[in-house]
Amino acid sequence: MNNIYDTLYQIGMVPVIKIDDAKDAIPLAKALCDGGIPCAEVTFRTDAAYQAIKNMSENVPEILVGAGTVLSIEQAKLAIEAGAKFIVSPGLNPEVVKYCQSVNVPILPGCITPTEIELALSFGLNVLKFFPAEQAGGLDFTKAVCAPYTQIKFIPTGGISEKNLEEYLKFDKIVACGGSYMATTDLINNGKWDEVTEICKKTVEKIKKVRN
Ligand code: 3PG
Repeated sequence: MNNIYDTLYQIGMVPVIKIDDAKDAIPLAKALCDGGIPCAEVTFRTDAAYQAIKNMSENVPEILVGAGTVLSIEQAKLAIEAGAKFIVSPGLNPEVVKYCQSVNVPILPGCITPTEIELALSFGLNVLKFFPAEQAGGLDFTKAVCAPYTQIKFIPTGGISEKNLEEYLKFDKIVACGGSYMATTDLINNGKWDEVTEICKKTVEKIKKVRN
């Protein structure tokens, strides 16, 4: 694994962010860092994504900022220009994968089925998002699909919470989990930064129980 995957492993959790107002990006990034989770996947589900990534990467250097829900080369370019250090997509778009590889930015495409995993392998990718994790079959499915592909590792996202996080992290094919519960849109829109920090701290305690 290269450095970014090592960092994701060490952090253990990737907060998935849907942010409506880019002015919230800096206090949000600080709240995540204060809680011990210096990472954010800022999704291109809102128009604020570009500026939010820029605000975080320029003002909170300790956070590892990535872009999520990247569905086109255009969005990938914008994300990288804004400072995203990794790109995440819900599925595998070969054009987006090729673009990210051409500019040496790690891409984590969502893959579930053996066919999707083999497509990812054909691009030389072996760390993949597993989305939507719980809805697609959860940890049992993840374990079953990993069996033939000894070289792949996953970042499961979708339905991950404080309740099931430890179980996922115990499986040695899991680099980190992803989830929105640490910084929901409601928490962000209401500026509940202390609450974000508290939820992160509780999450860190759980990660430490499994990995130390
Ligand atoms: C994602 O975008 O990766 C998921 O929607 C996050 O899923 P969650 O809201 O169930 O954590």
